[in-house]
Amino acid sequence: MKRIETRHPLGNADAFPEGLAVLREVNGRDICVLRDGDTLRACSAWCPHQYARMDGSPGEPGHIVCRYHGLRFNMVSGDCTNASGYSVEIIPLQTDSQTGEVFALTFDIVDD
Ligand code: FES
Repeated sequence: MKRIETRHPLGNADAFPEGLAVLREVNGRDICVLRDGDTLRACSAWCPHQYARMDGSPGEPGHIVCRYHGLRFNMVSGDCTNASGYSVEIIPLQTDSQTGEVFALTFDIVDD
């Protein structure tokens, strides 16, 4: 078994404004990318509360805040910090330091 990493281009880092979740698609899945200062983070785009899409939601330092009912998710752990029992999947990102291109990373386990 080995792990295969795939990089999915999301655009240049400059395309992501501070504090506003931007929608992207990775392998047919919607994700939200959020700038937090110099750091970009991403999570699944669908809020686990009532399954609304969170693009356009505001960010707070280290968090995305669903614009529908205000659930607040930590962008490192994915855990909801103001209601119990909810979490979002965190999507790892990588930025090319030369070009500024941002990639979402996915991993597959395959047989050797
Ligand atoms: S749908 Fe996101 S907080 Fe309700």
